[in-house]
Amino acid sequence: MSNKQHIVSILKLANVGVDLTVTGWVRSVRVGKGIAFIALNDGSCVSSLQVIIESDLPEYDEVCRLGTGSAVAITGVLSESPAAGQSVELRAEKVTIYGGVDGSYPLQKKHHSFEFLRGIAHLRPRANTFGAVFRTRSALSFAIHRFFRERGFVYVHTPIITANDCEGAGEQFKVTTLDVAAPPMTKGKIDFSNDFFGQPTGLTVSGQLEGELLAMGLSSVYTFGPTFRAENSNTPRHAAEFWMVEPEIAFADLADDADLAEDFIKYLCGFALEECAEDMAFFDKQIEPGVIERVRNLAESEFVRMDYTEAIARLEKAPMSFQYPVAWGLDLQTEHERYLTEKIVGGPLFVLNYPKDIKAFYMRQNEDGRTVAAMDLLVPKVGEIIGGSQREERLDLLQMRMDEMGISTQALSWYLDSRRWGTCPHAGFGLGFERLIMHITGMENIRDVIPFPRTPGHAEF
Ligand code: 4AD
Ligand code: MG
Repeated sequence: MSNKQHIVSILKLANVGVDLTVTGWVRSVRVGKGIAFIALNDGSCVSSLQVIIESDLPEYDEVCRLGTGSAVAITGVLSESPAAGQSVELRAEKVTIYGGVDGSYPLQKKHHSFEFLRGIAHLRPRANTFGAVFRTRSALSFAIHRFFRERGFVYVHTPIITANDCEGAGEQFKVTTLDVAAPPMTKGKIDFSNDFFGQPTGLTVSGQLEGELLAMGLSSVYTFGPTFRAENSNTPRHAAEFWMVEPEIAFADLADDADLAEDFIKYLCGFALEECAEDMAFFDKQIEPGVIERVRNLAESEFVRMDYTEAIARLEKAPMSFQYPVAWGLDLQTEHERYLTEKIVGGPLFVLNYPKDIKAFYMRQNEDGRTVAAMDLLVPKVGEIIGGSQREERLDLLQMRMDEMGISTQALSWYLDSRRWGTCPHAGFGLGFERLIMHITGMENIRDVIPFPRTPGHAEF
């Protein structure tokens, strides 16, 4: 096709007089007196390109009958548009129709509920909202790599199939080649010695443990990849398959970790405002009025830091009752997290130094003997978007903690080796990528920020 261009660059360059070809899906066809107007969208931006079809074009009659959703290629000359709302339009010289639609095409209306669209996740990339969300997702993925690269971090790939359960929450999906209908049994237990890896394995819940080993040689590293949790919770914030970004920094403590997380979030907010301006304007208009202002404030504000103990004291004084109990030693539920970030702070909040008994084995024990150097970053509406910690780098204390928690020091001897030889203070965190996108776009359900969501009972597309 001669001089084929995406609509985003056609509208940006507005090279009037140029011959070009554009391809995409018809959003609407309007027929006037001896002239037809196609609004054509190719997913490169929110805006559609107006295409003018004069009645002397051989394809005119066919164009007039085109339904919403048809796939076409149009060659013509870019002209100044006399109409309001657009600077240029394409005067068609040739129209090629690739795929028509019939009346059963489900995306006919301008506005469908997100719930309806989830049921047609294979078609929703053609809806404006999902175009905007997936473009923003793409831009932010790139921004993540740029942020870390500018700071000298090495991008590392940690395994997806693993024999360790990093978070120890028992939420791993199993990976096996054994016959699940009749697995080999020894003394009443499944015998994994004949399984593919010779031991039980699953999909990773976090790349952290391997990330730590890489940081112990490369200093500053990060992972960015799919993460799996068989958490049977049907909430707007949980997916069984989500993407996590996990930086790990050697020779760093909890304060360094929080500083990195704060810089990171602010950078991503700034990037979205600058590089996704049209999509952000769409979210501001259609999804969450004021989202641009909110994200801008986020990029410029200082994140508040508060100890868990203080957070509990604040919650105990709250002039309202919660569904879940509040007491020192209990984990914070989403309602508590939201109260703290929305009502107490009115913005992002780091909660630091949680009780050791509600956190993972690898977190560094504080001198008080009852808390660990953990941090969660909470934001309004979404709650926790980052979980991280300084790691226990002292071999004896780590082994003691593992014994207390019933975690095999033998199975993780490779992890303990990093504490045996050349150990050093280090810290890191995990950012839930989908939760970040929710926060930046104003989308309220995790199922609507990942193209094909995996949630309990749903893996059909
Ligand atoms: O707090 P989490 O469980 O922390 C870890 O996995 C650490 N190993 C990270 C580290 O220190 N390297 O998970 C980190 C983040 C959460 O804050 C949340 O944003 C996201 O991952 N997350 C989920 N996102 C969507 N669906 C789920 N089921 C999620 N579980 C965690
Ligand atoms: Mg967490």
